Amino acid sequence: MKSQLTRVPFLFLSLLVISLAAAADLELPEGKGKDVVESTCTECHSSERIKAQRLDEEGWNAIVREMIESGAFINPNDLKTIVGYLTKNFGPDKKVNINKAKADEIAATLKLAPPDVDAVIQYRTRHGKFKDLSELETVPGLGDKIEAKKALIEF
Ligand code: HEC
Repeated sequence: MKSQLTRVPFLFLSLLVISLAAAADLELPEGKGKDVVESTCTECHSSERIKAQRLDEEGWNAIVREMIESGAFINPNDLKTIVGYLTKNFGPDKKVNINKAKADEIAATLKLAPPDVDAVIQYRTRHGKFKDLSELETVPGLGDKIEAKKALIEF
């Protein structure tokens, strides 16, 4: 009986740890406008959708307009804040962490074709984290394509 009872909080704790880890993965960067983006933009889909884009102000404006057409309720007073937050945190020169980012985020930031993104993910899965640019360049097919984009990559 006793062992049954002690197992329950343990299970609960494990679940808590798992869900916290999942939440951290979806977490948006801190900054002015985070709250309003979180509350208005994660109602229909997760923030992964946002993280998988790198757009300038005009591009984000267009997305937000599209979302309004899809039924997003956005207070007109919040529009500037939302677009400002998105442009600052997911703008065209925002770096990607090549060791942590998901495939769509890598594709969006580095404008790589799907086979190249797959090659990166496969290498990372097999060998663990990339140490530096020269290791990344050894991924089959990637070689010269990555040099020009090094300013957008962090490890
Ligand atoms: C009313 C529901 C709803 C809300 C709220 C919403 N979206 Fe969307 N969003 C959608 C739908 C529907 C799609 C298209 C899904 C698809 O094509 O698979 C989408 C897709 C996207 C995409 C991908 C677009 C692309 O071209 O690939 C981005 C980026 C995005 N949303 C950002 C946002 C942002 C930023 C906000 C907050 C301002 C937001 N969404 C709020 C419904 C919503």
